[in-house]
Amino acid sequence: MQSSGANSMERVRSEREAGFTDVHCHCLPGLDDGPPDVPSALALCRALAADRIRTVVATPHQLGRYDGLYDAGTIRQAVTQLNGLLGEAQIPVRVLPGADVRIDERIDDLVQSDRVLTVADNRRYLLLELPHEVFIDPEMLLARLGPAGLCGVITHPERHMFLAERPEYVRRWASYRPCLQLTAGSFLGGFGRRSERAAWAFLQESLPLVVATDAHDTAGRAPCMTDAYHLLSRYLGRDGADILCIENPRRLVAGEDLAMLSLGMGES
Ligand SMILES: [Fe+2]
Repeated sequence: MQSSGANSMERVRSEREAGFTDVHCHCLPGLDDGPPDVPSALALCRALAADRIRTVVATPHQLGRYDGLYDAGTIRQAVTQLNGLLGEAQIPVRVLPGADVRIDERIDDLVQSDRVLTVADNRRYLLLELPHEVFIDPEMLLARLGPAGLCGVITHPERHMFLAERPEYVRRWASYRPCLQLTAGSFLGGFGRRSERAAWAFLQESLPLVVATDAHDTAGRAPCMTDAYHLLSRYLGRDGADILCIENPRRLVAGEDLAMLSLGMGES
């Protein structure tokens, strides 16, 4: 028991040194509202590398207003091309395929028919984006994902006007064990006071949590994982920040069960 704990601490330490994994980033050129062209995609990837992110899941929007514009195959191809360009430009970032999927009653079928992409194509975790303008409760959808072998990852609930005011609402979904993806910039106040307050409030909830950048560019939506990690370390201790920013992003990509944050982990 002790040695497996020691091994796991050792692994986290080496992952800390290896850099971050970002599970939500709009870095593919010309697909959605991320970089419009290759030079700006490379600039964003340079910013990711400078932020110590070494692995990034490219998550262009799927469904919603992007419904039918590109499919899973197009995203995989764009990822392969971007990885080639990153190699030529010697930018030390590895890109994996994924998508930021607007909730839709067809999702489980669309995953099965390979039109909608899971995180790192692992067919386990699926990023789910709620519409911004209205609140549509994803409970029924979460209930259908489990039997299909999928687990929902609700993206940036702290930036949703309904959930930001009622973080405790997510307890209704507890039996489906969705993961909540909080945005690095929210902890730093980059999305306003309400999202900042809500991001910290969601840390109290007993659901798996993960932090990602949801970066779109190098200006207003630039990656800031390192700053968020240091801030979270100050308040949660290093073990807590490691779970949110290092361990759970790695597990999401690997399709493994997620670690739970335990408040009161203290400084380490
Ligand atoms: Fe996104």
